[in-house]
Amino acid sequence: MNHRLKTSVFKILDGLPDRLGYFIYHQLQDLIAKLSIEDKIKSTEASYRLMKKIFDQQQISLENKIIVEVGSGWAPILPYLFVHDAAVKKVLTYDINKHYKKKSIKELNKIFEEKYNNQFGDLSGNSNLNEKVNYFPYTNVAEGELKDTDIIISRFVLEHLSPKDIKKMHQSFENKLKSGSYILHLISPGDHRAYSDKSISLYDFLKYSQQEWDAIQTKFDYHNRLRLPQYLEILQQNFEMIHLEYTSCVPESLEYQKFKKINVHEDFKRFSFEEQTAGSINVLLKKKIAFL
Ligand SMILES: C[S@@+](CC[C@H](N)C(=O)[O-])C[C@H]1O[C@@H](n2cnc3c(N)ncnc32)[C@H](O)[C@@H]1O
Repeated sequence: MNHRLKTSVFKILDGLPDRLGYFIYHQLQDLIAKLSIEDKIKSTEASYRLMKKIFDQQQISLENKIIVEVGSGWAPILPYLFVHDAAVKKVLTYDINKHYKKKSIKELNKIFEEKYNNQFGDLSGNSNLNEKVNYFPYTNVAEGELKDTDIIISRFVLEHLSPKDIKKMHQSFENKLKSGSYILHLISPGDHRAYSDKSISLYDFLKYSQQEWDAIQTKFDYHNRLRLPQYLEILQQNFEMIHLEYTSCVPESLEYQKFKKINVHEDFKRFSFEEQTAGSINVLLKKKIAFL
């Protein structure tokens, strides 16, 4: 979809009373989600494999662990993969909104039952979820009960939070988590409008001042535009970083050619080319061991 059309739709919804705006937004999201459930499973499986690879590399066992997911989104695909493939004890998944619908959970349950030859466990949990998945809608994870948590995970959430909220969230994690707990974030720092409109680049939004960008984005597609060093500065205030990986824009690639046409705004000029264009940031943090 052309990014201007998408922005116009979000702008119209943003102008409606909150309840009506969110209602229509959810209907549209449902429509999109329904069309691409198989694609969503495929892309979430790729994220799961990535997370598993990082934990394996660091020799962090997932078996029988209590996992907290930040930002459940539209379907419990990631929690289901952790439950089935990694044999975790439980996944507690938090979302400040409520996007799960019983009908789509049932549809997903059916797919997982078929996928795992009816060995997908008890599906009588709350909202018809696998019993090892607990869903906490309308709940900020920062307010969650986290003291027994071993590992926190998030997928494509941090880029949608304000820097202030990321800081508050990690302060709460630091206060509540036990020593030695881990946090793994998958962050997608690129301009999301480029996913559905190939005419613009993943870095297109770097040409705008904050004021200009705020006039384009809405509460439905908020993106903080933080660059790699800014994330690292915030996250390392409270935690030890034990693994970091990210992609770089390859010189002479199509994305590079698109990037070169952008007049990067003053606000981002202090960052190097690599910092400006770092993508798919995966960062593993550890709560420091407290010495008495
Ligand atoms: C872009 S969606 C990603 C959803 C899912 N992780 C995925 O990969 O499809 C971000 C989600 O994070 C949720 N969210 C944002 N801030 C949150 C917070 N402080 N606590 C829990 N959920 C939050 C939003 O409501 C939204 O559903």
